Amino acid sequence: MSDEHELPEHAARNREHWDEMAAGYVSAGERQWGATEASWGIWNIPESELHLLDGVEGLDAIELGCGTAYVSAWLARRGARPVGIDNSPNQLDTARRLQHAHGLEFPLLLGNAEHVPYPDASFDFAISEYGACLWADPYVWVAEAARLLRPGGRLVFLTNGYLLMLCAPDDEDEPATDRLLRSSFGMHRFEWPDDPSVEFHLAHGDWVRVLRANGFEVEDLIELQAPGDATSNAMFVSPQWAQRWPSEEVWIARKRG
Ligand SMILES: C[S@@+](CC[C@H](N)C(=O)[O-])C[C@H]1O[C@@H](n2cnc3c(N)ncnc32)[C@H](O)[C@@H]1O
Repeated sequence: MSDEHELPEHAARNREHWDEMAAGYVSAGERQWGATEASWGIWNIPESELHLLDGVEGLDAIELGCGTAYVSAWLARRGARPVGIDNSPNQLDTARRLQHAHGLEFPLLLGNAEHVPYPDASFDFAISEYGACLWADPYVWVAEAARLLRPGGRLVFLTNGYLLMLCAPDDEDEPATDRLLRSSFGMHRFEWPDDPSVEFHLAHGDWVRVLRANGFEVEDLIELQAPGDATSNAMFVSPQWAQRWPSEEVWIARKRG
């Protein structure tokens, strides 16, 4: 349990949001926990193409915003020692149920990934798939990830593509257009009409600067392309859009030694 920090306004709102959303994420969690191969993001791009988990055997790992914790399960099966932290009690209830169902135990903490109750340099690997990297303030969680990682440690996060956030209509049920609908300069905190949650998205230059300012070197930025036969339940982007432009991006950074 790590909940002793008073939650900032965005994290309190996001906790309420995710507690409400959790029931809708159970079946995806069950599918991903049971999957024979890890796959990433809304287009389920196989790990054999992305290699985000290469070399994790024997590493101390933390998943920042683990949700139902299937990424942590994949880490554990590859011989890492994962810890999952998530801000939603209801999401963690699902994660715990799936741990028992699959006979795979690892620590799960309730809390804000901007303040993790572990000492400095506790981990070799930190990962977030649409977790803290989307719902926490990058100027806070990136510094916290840097504190948690040992020198040489790797940070991997997957989030919405920068261009997608510029082309997404205010109505979240409308798919992305081929027009730039908002400014790139000043991107940071996003609030959508009729949605109480708070998201964070940065332009690429700002990601590079916040990572470097916190002692990371950027090793890669992988812009994900939807496969030709892609289908998705996501309302906010069509496969056709995501075959032309990157709807998702993966950042890979290493903490300087
Ligand atoms: C979309 S889920 C990500 C988990 C999983 N990879 C997935 O795609 O379903 C987003 C998760 O981020 C968590 N989250 C949001 N803000 C957070 C924060 N500040 N600290 C930790 N977790 C947070 C939410 O509670 C939610 O479970």
